Amino acid sequence: TGAFTYDPGFTSTASCQSALTYIDGDEGILLHRGYPIDQLAEQSSFMEVSYLLLNGELPSAKELESFTYTISRHTMLHEQLATFYRGFRRDAHPMAIMCGVVGALSAFYHDSTDINDPKQRMIASHRLIAKMPTIAAMAYKYSVGQPFLYPRNDLSYTANFLRMTFGVPAEEYEVDPVIESAMDKIFILHADHEQNASTSTVRLAGSSGANPFACIAAGIACLWGPAHGGANEAALNMLREIGTPDRIPEYIARAKNKDDPFRLMGFGHRVYKNFDPRAKVLGKAATEVLDKLGISDPVLDTARELERIALSDQYFIDKKLYPNVDFYSGVILSAIGFPTTMFTVLFALARTVGWVAQWNEMISDPEQKIGRPRQLYTGPAMRDYVPVAKR
Ligand code: CMC
Repeated sequence: TGAFTYDPGFTSTASCQSALTYIDGDEGILLHRGYPIDQLAEQSSFMEVSYLLLNGELPSAKELESFTYTISRHTMLHEQLATFYRGFRRDAHPMAIMCGVVGALSAFYHDSTDINDPKQRMIASHRLIAKMPTIAAMAYKYSVGQPFLYPRNDLSYTANFLRMTFGVPAEEYEVDPVIESAMDKIFILHADHEQNASTSTVRLAGSSGANPFACIAAGIACLWGPAHGGANEAALNMLREIGTPDRIPEYIARAKNKDDPFRLMGFGHRVYKNFDPRAKVLGKAATEVLDKLGISDPVLDTARELERIALSDQYFIDKKLYPNVDFYSGVILSAIGFPTTMFTVLFALARTVGWVAQWNEMISDPEQKIGRPRQLYTGPAMRDYVPVAKR
């Protein structure tokens, strides 16, 4: 053993200094560069929030226009990358495809990987933000056996993504403004979240000076897990499995049973011990979007009833468990038409801006060092090797 602080899960270790995102878990506050998340979600746009996270201030109208134009110039993928998809099985999970294809970007953009040059770091960041919708839409198209669509730079970031996902070459795709605005809101709500597991992964991978595209692929791998970004897929699958409100008590009982590994997906958070402000915005948005689209989905009723019952149950009160961002997002994504396997892909798409902003901040920090935790050793004391014949 050594004289190290033991902190499994890093519940009380600050791994860095950061000026990006502030969370007060007890008060349910989330700020990006000082701006409350609900104000950004209700009034801003994903492009504006991306600029804010990357540059520290909200853009002027001219800066926003120039930033949006720059991002749109990077939306195409190298043609050679399209062939990567064909190596995957059609039924591959799109997150598996995302890990592979985003990692492969590192082999295509050697010109923007001098991490010590701030200009090149910004180009790599713009490329990642711009190409994620194209890569994500292609992962979806590949799974349903439809042709890939090229990006259209006259459309907004979000409308372009929706068209590449749901459009077909045979006809013009009209982007529904209700869907576009809901999608943009979901992107804003997922843009950054302090030193969560995937962001810490990106920082740790990047701390060795590794290629930024490869670092983001590492973040995608981490995000995939059901305790992190994979919870949105798991939450909707759970709500569908519950099916009708009368079956909720059975699932609540399972979640409370120590001998059952089952957890209510989309519930609980390492930092929020009061409520998750993102879940509040999404809970409201879910009703609005379904109403406006004229969709009635029993899953929303199940979600509302589950929330009501859980929040009045002593177990959930004592453990301070509340719906998190993943609880209601799936209801909206499903109404838009995404299969559950795409949910975490959308999270990755939006979180890319947070990852690159955090990575930039880390590389430009003069105190930055390679991340290298220590351990408490629990293995055998020193002993002598015994040849196999004598064992
Ligand atoms: N259902 C039932 N019990 C729970 C749940 C839940 N969803 N979450 C935590 N608990 C219990 C847990 O069993 C533990 O009980 P005890 O003290 O008796 O051992 C206690 O609450 C504390 O849980 P923990 O696992 O020590 O807390 P953590 O901070 O390590 O984990 C979490 C946080 C988000 C991983 C966890 O709440 C969880 O697994 N939730 C379900 C998955 C989920 O929704 N994840 C999305 C997180 S938000 C978005 C994102 O990060 O992508």
